[in-house]
Amino acid sequence: MPDPFRHYEGAPVLDLPADPPAMEIAALNVLLGGSGGTVANDGPAYLSQLLFYSAAISASKRVPSTGYRYALRVNPSSGNLHPTEFHFATLGVKDWPDGLYHYRASSHMAEQRALGDFVANLTDTDAPIVFVLTSIAWREAWKYGERAYRYCLHDMGHAWQALVLAARAIGCGSLAAGHFPDDDVAQFCRVNEDEWPMLIVALCGPSIPVSEPHAGETVWLEGRANRLSNEYVAHPLIDSIHASTKLARRNGGIREAEPAPQGSGGIKLPPPASATRPFGEVVRTRRSALDFRGGALSMSLAQLSTILDAAARPFFADFAGTRFVQLYLYVHLVDGLEAGVYRHWPERRELEMIQSGDQRVAAAGLSLGQDLAGNACVAFSMIADIDRAVRAHGDRGYRYVHFEAGAIGQRLYLAAEAAGLRATGIGAFFDNEVHRYLNIGPEQGQVVYHFAIGYPVPDLRLEA
Ligand SMILES: Cc1cc2nc3c(=O)[nH]c(=O)nc-3n(C[C@H](O)[C@H](O)[C@H](O)COP(=O)(O)O)c2cc1C
Repeated sequence: MPDPFRHYEGAPVLDLPADPPAMEIAALNVLLGGSGGTVANDGPAYLSQLLFYSAAISASKRVPSTGYRYALRVNPSSGNLHPTEFHFATLGVKDWPDGLYHYRASSHMAEQRALGDFVANLTDTDAPIVFVLTSIAWREAWKYGERAYRYCLHDMGHAWQALVLAARAIGCGSLAAGHFPDDDVAQFCRVNEDEWPMLIVALCGPSIPVSEPHAGETVWLEGRANRLSNEYVAHPLIDSIHASTKLARRNGGIREAEPAPQGSGGIKLPPPASATRPFGEVVRTRRSALDFRGGALSMSLAQLSTILDAAARPFFADFAGTRFVQLYLYVHLVDGLEAGVYRHWPERRELEMIQSGDQRVAAAGLSLGQDLAGNACVAFSMIADIDRAVRAHGDRGYRYVHFEAGAIGQRLYLAAEAAGLRATGIGAFFDNEVHRYLNIGPEQGQVVYHFAIGYPVPDLRLEA
């Protein structure tokens, strides 16, 4: 198994202060568009707080048979393999040298890769902090083979939302860019050759402690990427998918996609329920359920409505002007809603029933026979209009729909936790069977991600 932690060895390491301030704003408030503040009044404290609540280690699990412990992080990841790396550039952040950094998640520190102004070349905004999120696909392919490329894109969507929601909880807005020349950005940031830049996320807002920028000439510091494994297994299909989704130049800006179709369903969702669990607590205790309790324990329609609202709030990214993904629900145990399959129409806050009847066996079967999709209160298929994305963005559209699916997934995870439930992302499903079961023709879209939400069974391996 490749090392899940990348280090740029030999680079100077800057401390991110321990025990950053809590994030007290209600998680649901942030998910529904609210914004908080922070008492962090210098760069180290601010960056520490931001990363502690978006990308840091937050728990561990112990394998009873061997005693082996492994780390879990605030952002979820398929197979816990964590292909996503967080790099960031700063300019004029108080008491923090202008430069380029890599986040060392294993010890919550920043590896200083270079000094100078890296921000101006990464964004057109005047953001003082810009993240470059990269993906190490072979780390994921080790376990999942060619399907890993999708998982890397989902994970990227999760990481993006983990970052920008934490930023919003401390009063900071964001704009993500997916449309950039890949090789130029990779060379500019001198990321290791196995890291592929996928998203650039600019953060700005009055809560960032700033001072006059002092960036002089660029000075590269030592820092060699650690080797993640002695063996490297090539996956030419992944390389070729990635190559065909690359941009050689900026092409004068991203095109606008055709709007998503509008529809209605007749079943009006109630107003969202309120929930006061603080954002910091929700994100640090978020976990994937191993399985759900099943039985007769149901969730309320207000809880479901809240979770769907959180998923439907806008994303701030150059590729996210319109949605490509629609949610289909396998309702098992929701008070006031008959068991069946439903389609979500977010603009009207309505559900449309497509099939009635018990869906537990079907949902589990379609999810590669994973019981958790049948034992949940509700499971989801995310159906993406890949053709519409490709008409606007060419092959790169394939990335964008998966980023969107991962981003929706992250909202589902956090909204479920905030509402007192638990969720699990499900990347393993039978694509064609889902299309047949939901009666989705090729022109209507393709399944890109599954999800389940309910009451979790206890996980005895979990340690705080
Ligand atoms: C894109 C993605 C796909 C996943 N697919 C599955 C899955 O098919 N089955 C499953 O049990 N868990 C799945 N998970 C959950 C991961 O195994 C889990 O996130 C990881 O073990 C880390 O645990 P944590 O979420 O508690 O931090 C998936 C997670 C993500 C982000």
